[in-house]
Amino acid sequence: MPGNPILLCAPQSDLRDRLERELTDSGYPVSSAYSPAEAVAALRDARFDLVVADGLAVTGALGSIRNASTIPTPCLVVAPAGDVEARIAFLEAGADDVLPAGWGHRELEARIEALLIRSGRVQPAERSKAPGQVVTFFSPKGGVGTTTLAVNTALLLAGGDQAGSGFPGQKVLVLDLDLQFGQVATHLNLNPRFDIAGLSSDEPAMNDPEVASSYLTVHSSGISVLAAPSIPDAEARVGIEELERILALLRPRFDHVVIDAGSRLDPRTLWTLEQADTHIFVIFPEIAALRATSLMLGYLAETATLRARTHFVVNHIFPKELLKTRDIENLLRAHPAAEIPYTEVEMVRAVNEGVPLVISRPTSPAAAALRQVAQTVMGIDSRPPTPVKPERRGVLFGRRSAPRQARADRRRARSDGEAKGRRNRS
Ligand SMILES: Nc1ncnc2c1ncn2[C@@H]1O[C@H](COP(=O)(O)OP(=O)(O)OP(=O)(O)O)[C@@H](O)[C@H]1O
Ligand SMILES: [Mg+2]
Repeated sequence: MPGNPILLCAPQSDLRDRLERELTDSGYPVSSAYSPAEAVAALRDARFDLVVADGLAVTGALGSIRNASTIPTPCLVVAPAGDVEARIAFLEAGADDVLPAGWGHRELEARIEALLIRSGRVQPAERSKAPGQVVTFFSPKGGVGTTTLAVNTALLLAGGDQAGSGFPGQKVLVLDLDLQFGQVATHLNLNPRFDIAGLSSDEPAMNDPEVASSYLTVHSSGISVLAAPSIPDAEARVGIEELERILALLRPRFDHVVIDAGSRLDPRTLWTLEQADTHIFVIFPEIAALRATSLMLGYLAETATLRARTHFVVNHIFPKELLKTRDIENLLRAHPAAEIPYTEVEMVRAVNEGVPLVISRPTSPAAAALRQVAQTVMGIDSRPPTPVKPERRGVLFGRRSAPRQARADRRRARSDGEAKGRRNRS
């Protein structure tokens, strides 16, 4: 955290200048060494809480840098962009974490914070008290990979993948809000003893975050899961009021709350979308799915008060290219944050075995695309914006916006429905 002295070891001036600038902007006192030998000497002379080094410049010297002072100093190493093999090699050589070149400022900060906490240089309690960021994954069409994306992104956010390219140290909760047939637990090979319907009906737990946390199932990667009910009709026990209480209880305990919101747009989902900081809408590149997405966006614009950053991710669940990305961009008037390639049997095997792709196939192109989704959630925009032609949207979808009166009617109908639901429960 700002205040912890950091030693830079980056002989190249471009890289050194950028790191110096960003670290200083974040409030860290920074000193520079121009070679591994200078870094070792500096670490013997003064106390530093972290070393940030150019991976290529320190290859072979990582061990001596780490162990130059009595208590080993954690090392964050900058690796060439997109070179997963190099990242793995740096980790094997002793780096504590690897930052791919092309990083964003927020990513640099997140990795440094995580390393400082892991190495005991700061206490988690010193972290900002901002409650967890809520990220929803939703698609108006089922079976398009919403759960796959939510689960893999959650693992990456927690640094639970195998390529060292996640964000270690981040506490992540996955909430399975596909309440009838949610499969988050299946994707992670978990057998939850407790679920969200049980928590909703347990009044003492609903008043105590410690007790509520006992309803979570923890995966070996460290991420926590609040599972969907095991009986489909138990969803009736989870209303907006219960969701509100659960989120208020658990959100402050996590850095990210990843919500698999499924594919049904009911008052509960609408409420959840309104609470989110980031939306990931999963797009299947087919006309009917895009039409459903367009209808959904129109409906949300008219009925919900959304404050989240909205991103689209195109998921190719079929081998054939059904629509050109350019057409999707034109139709949605947005550039997808990522495009997940078709991944033949590996994706299905990942679900069957309960070992998500970022763990089972960390070097696959699909895992790289999933990392892009996690970066998007972290506010790191790794893809250049693409100018799109808005006028083409109408060609396919026609007029979207409803008259002001109709909009007001729908809002009123929704709030009447919610009030009725609350009355029925009480
Ligand atoms: N890029 C991909 N390539 C190939 N298969 C994929 C891809 N993405 C997802 N799948 C497969 O598609 C199937 C559906 O995935 P998933 O369960 O994540 O979808 P969903 O939208 O959550 O479905 P549901 O509506 O049933 O909850 C799974 O078998 C998954 O392995
Ligand atoms: Mg699902």
